[in-house]
Amino acid sequence: MDSFEFQGFLRTRASVREFSADDLTAEEIAGIVQTAERVPTAGNREAWDVVIVTDAGIREDLSDAAFQQEHLRQAPCILVVCANYVRSMSQYGERGILYAVQDATIAATYMMLGAHAAGFQTCWTGAFDEETVSEVLALPEHIRPLVLLAAGKGNLPPSYTERMPIGEHVHENIW
Ligand SMILES: Cc1cc2nc3c(=O)[nH]c(=O)nc-3n(C[C@H](O)[C@H](O)[C@H](O)COP(=O)(O)O)c2cc1C
Repeated sequence: MDSFEFQGFLRTRASVREFSADDLTAEEIAGIVQTAERVPTAGNREAWDVVIVTDAGIREDLSDAAFQQEHLRQAPCILVVCANYVRSMSQYGERGILYAVQDATIAATYMMLGAHAAGFQTCWTGAFDEETVSEVLALPEHIRPLVLLAAGKGNLPPSYTERMPIGEHVHENIW
């Protein structure tokens, strides 16, 4: 894939919130998760984990924890990407909190793009009650859920969301 194709690949990703009833196979899910194997990670501490949720009852609980967001109920798979504070804080102390959040966010991004590359759709979901999600998934104390990445088969929207011109994000040398 050349740079032009890569830009096109990124431009054709969109959040999808309606999924067909088709399940993803275990191999398909493993393929998405595998994408995150080589993410950059602070000090190579790999301070992230993922809980693969396919159980319908647990998906329903996660939807409830996310203020009844319907796409979480519908998607056949939710990848709950988590920061693992122990792995990073054991080396970096307080700074490790930020590194774990960054590691996990990059991992979630790779999985989102891995799903896109495989022809599946996703919706990055950040609005949820962390305590409830932790309870539903029996997460240990040092694991913080950051992203509920809904994944499945759906249709891309007919048009893509607007963005600010990139120049509005960019500052040269100083702000
Ligand atoms: C940090 C973050 C949190 C988000 N939380 C939600 C959410 O709770 N529910 C939802 O439907 N979409 C959520 N989204 C998806 C955004 O709404 C979406 O990415 C944005 O509107 C741009 O649309 P696009 O992804 O189709 O380009 C979230 C995205 C990010 C990066």
